[in-house]
Amino acid sequence: MHLIETRDLCYTYPGNVKALDHIHFIAPRNARIAVIGANGAGKSTLFKQFNGIFKPTSGSVLIRGEPISKENLREVRKFVGLVFQNPDDQIFSPTVEQDVAFGPMNLGLDEETVQHRVTEALGVVGIEHLRDRVPHHLSGGEKKRVAIAGVIAMEPQVLVLDEPTAGLDPQGVRDLVGFINSLSSKYGMTVIFSTHDVSLVPEVADYVYVMNKGQVVGTGTVEEIFINEEMLNSVRLGVPVLPKLISTLQKHGISISPAYSYADAERSFLSAFGKQP
Ligand SMILES: Nc1ncnc2c1ncn2[C@@H]1O[C@H](COP(=O)(O)OP(=O)(O)O)[C@@H](O)[C@H]1O
Ligand SMILES: [Mg+2]
Repeated sequence: MHLIETRDLCYTYPGNVKALDHIHFIAPRNARIAVIGANGAGKSTLFKQFNGIFKPTSGSVLIRGEPISKENLREVRKFVGLVFQNPDDQIFSPTVEQDVAFGPMNLGLDEETVQHRVTEALGVVGIEHLRDRVPHHLSGGEKKRVAIAGVIAMEPQVLVLDEPTAGLDPQGVRDLVGFINSLSSKYGMTVIFSTHDVSLVPEVADYVYVMNKGQVVGTGTVEEIFINEEMLNSVRLGVPVLPKLISTLQKHGISISPAYSYADAERSFLSAFGKQP
């Protein structure tokens, strides 16, 4: 049974804006899934279906095999944690600590457990030092981390991050890559994130969905998706710089093995130049 599955999912906004068009999406256990697509492709609309914020116009969303209903909505939200694109939509409390504690407190956990979870979550995103600060006065990147910590503190099985790197500085992006990968490897969490930054994808995803105009136009592993330069260009995305460079070198007859992530590319280049990685 899949953690999340959508079948023929369609969603139309009032005013007849068709935002999702027959989406089939599957999130297996412990996967890291990237949903890539240009602005307006439908990524945020899709994510809001995963925890019942929006209801399908037609088709279905199944969480652990069950359709989302009034009766299981609370359980679904415990299971699927969604971090919005804009942290201001998510942060309400007067201090960072209270904000991160809000979710676990609503789960009815005792004070000690709540405190423990807050400390853990702040640690995962690297903002223990902001614990007593006023979220409203933080930078965009800091707010983003607070919003993510608030969701992690609820210990969802599936963490859904909408454009998590938008507005982060380069170190912020590296930190994000690090903690997404550790949530996946250490806690077995399934992580689903959206982005239009294709270079990020090989560093944090096993599986990719490509969206365009409300449809899924490609699915596959990182290797399967990024080989298809034409398709990616046609949806205003393109191929990340490393695989693009390697394929250009190959076209010029240089013997170098394909690579997508930075670590793999480093090995490919070193061995192409006859050096031991
Ligand atoms: N509240 C809304 N009302 C009407 N149309 C909307 C609304 N939100 C998004 N849309 C439209 O739905 C489509 C998908 O938007 P969205 O899911 O935000 O895409 P993405 O997250 O990939 O940028 C776009 O055409 C967008 O204009
Ligand atoms: Mg969006």
